[in-house]
Amino acid sequence: MAKTSTDQALFEAAEAIRAKAYAPYSRFHVGAAILADDGKIYAGCNIENAAYPQGNCAEASAISAMVAGGGKRITRIYVTGPGAAPVTPCGGCRQRIREFADLDVEIISHGVDGTPLVTTLAQLLPHSFGPEFLPK
Ligand code: THU
Repeated sequence: MAKTSTDQALFEAAEAIRAKAYAPYSRFHVGAAILADDGKIYAGCNIENAAYPQGNCAEASAISAMVAGGGKRITRIYVTGPGAAPVTPCGGCRQRIREFADLDVEIISHGVDGTPLVTTLAQLLPHSFGPEFLPK
């Protein structure tokens, strides 16, 4: 199916920032692009570290860009990576997305040589814990 213009813009933003990924250890370059509630696109790439656990995923970087830029909520998120298999967010990033997205928000996971996989956050993170569970 042809991409919508929004998905094309998200794909292009994710691919542009994926080219800047700092991933000398895995060599697995990932880009993420968020459409936020302010109508803007915020993008991020993975940034690895010689102390491996200190690396950042692309989704975490994109969320940082969104918060720094004034966006409050994720309305759609696109993830791109190498190969044909859809690059789906890791478990930790599913929870990071959960903080800023409704459960019906769509996550498009795209291995650039393959077909994108469209899922909702609820599908990727069932029975999840979120901010509304905590007392105000
Ligand atoms: N990675 C991401 O940035 N996002 C994903 O959705 C999957 C994995 C990164 C983490 C690490 O830098 C590299 O890809 C290999 O796992």
